Amino acid sequence: MKKIAVLGCGTVGSGVVEVFYKNRASIERKAGCELDIKYIYVRRPHPEIAYQDKLCFNFDTIANDPEINIVVEVMGGVDPAYRFVKTCLENGKSVATANKELIAKNGAELLSIAKQHHVNILFEASVGGGIPIIRPLHQCLGANEIDDIQGILNGTTNFILTKMIREGMSFSDALALAQQLGYAEADPTSDVEGIDACRKICILASLAYGRHVYPEYVHCEGITKLTAEDVEYAKDWGGVIKLIAKASRDPQTQKISMLVAPMFVPFESQLSSVDDVFNGILVDGDATGEVLFYGKGAGKLPTASAVMSDVIDCAKAADTIDTLYWEDSDNNFVEDWRTQPMQSYLRLQLQYRQQTALINELFDTPVLLARKSQPETEIAFITPPLTPLQLDELLSRLSDEGISVLGSVFLA
Ligand code: NDP
Ligand code: HSE
Repeated sequence: MKKIAVLGCGTVGSGVVEVFYKNRASIERKAGCELDIKYIYVRRPHPEIAYQDKLCFNFDTIANDPEINIVVEVMGGVDPAYRFVKTCLENGKSVATANKELIAKNGAELLSIAKQHHVNILFEASVGGGIPIIRPLHQCLGANEIDDIQGILNGTTNFILTKMIREGMSFSDALALAQQLGYAEADPTSDVEGIDACRKICILASLAYGRHVYPEYVHCEGITKLTAEDVEYAKDWGGVIKLIAKASRDPQTQKISMLVAPMFVPFESQLSSVDDVFNGILVDGDATGEVLFYGKGAGKLPTASAVMSDVIDCAKAADTIDTLYWEDSDNNFVEDWRTQPMQSYLRLQLQYRQQTALINELFDTPVLLARKSQPETEIAFITPPLTPLQLDELLSRLSDEGISVLGSVFLA
């Protein structure tokens, strides 16, 4: 019998306990051994938890219990999660975690500690909620060089955008609903400012390219500045706005380009129809071509499913799974995003209509977009490919003429 401790019993933790006891027989069959949850670690009384006899208020009890083989970390945040996970690995216990903040910050170190102690740290739930993506990337796609990964990696923002666009719901109502449904982070700023998606694309890039990519090196924008007008212009252009996270590698230089930002996605792209809490991740392997991973990106049971898959693998593994690994790095292989040319949508407020001539001159007669009730002095268009540095220069020239930016979104 292998014994499990669950650290934290919120949305995901309660889902893990529920899925384990609901599907215990088949989980044990797949793990090849008997399993049970011995402790549920909480920091305060939780009378709603059905298994009161398993509640434990002292982490040291778990850390020092030789019967505990597998620890599920679903508290979130870096402190005390980092200390707890490190202690468990050092004490010879494998860890399954859904904590992308922890893995994006300390993944290289924790993977190395796990290896030294012949145990595992697995984190399938940290990216894409219930979608299998970590395991496919280092196992099923192991024969490929990964040229490009791009996707919708945050369920909360995709849910908010869908509710705003389809149902005309306000941003704050849609966010409140996402929180009620258990999709959002404890601090939803991480969701709406793109930070959560950034942590996830860093985990995928670290795994695909073998070196730790730290979130501080990745430019990241959220969805808070988007307006209904931007959505209308996107439709006229022939697409939708999605929060996209991207990583790609130049095969010549081996340098990687990373970006997290709202983007215009054309209707022809498979990502354009990924709605609600669903995530979609396109992985381009040199042997497979594009592979799409699609499913629920957040929520109690989908996430618990991914965590339990890790528990099963931890129970089965005789040693560290060595394909799940990346080295620490100084990130000098991440390109400066400001030097990468990209097309953008721009919506500008002119002082007077004749300033259109200046726009035509600076942006090489761009294709204009239109919307209902468009004021005379509002202009929207797609720029030619420009680096963010070049775009900033042009916008500063426009500002000198009294022209201000109302909206700006990259093209995917
Ligand atoms: P919740 O806030 O619902 O649950 C976290 C639980 O951990 C709470 O019950 C909280 O206790 C407990 N906790 C937090 N800090 C401590 C601590 N220091 N000591 C003891 N207990 C603590 O979060 P989620 O379940 O939504 O998320 C958990 C993790 O899973 C996070 O890393 C998140 O990013 C990740 N994740 C979440 C998904 C989702 O859909 N929700 C999907 C994929 C990953 P208390 O009740 O006392 O506050
Ligand atoms: N807050 C995250 C999201 C949870 O909305 O995608 C899943 O990682």
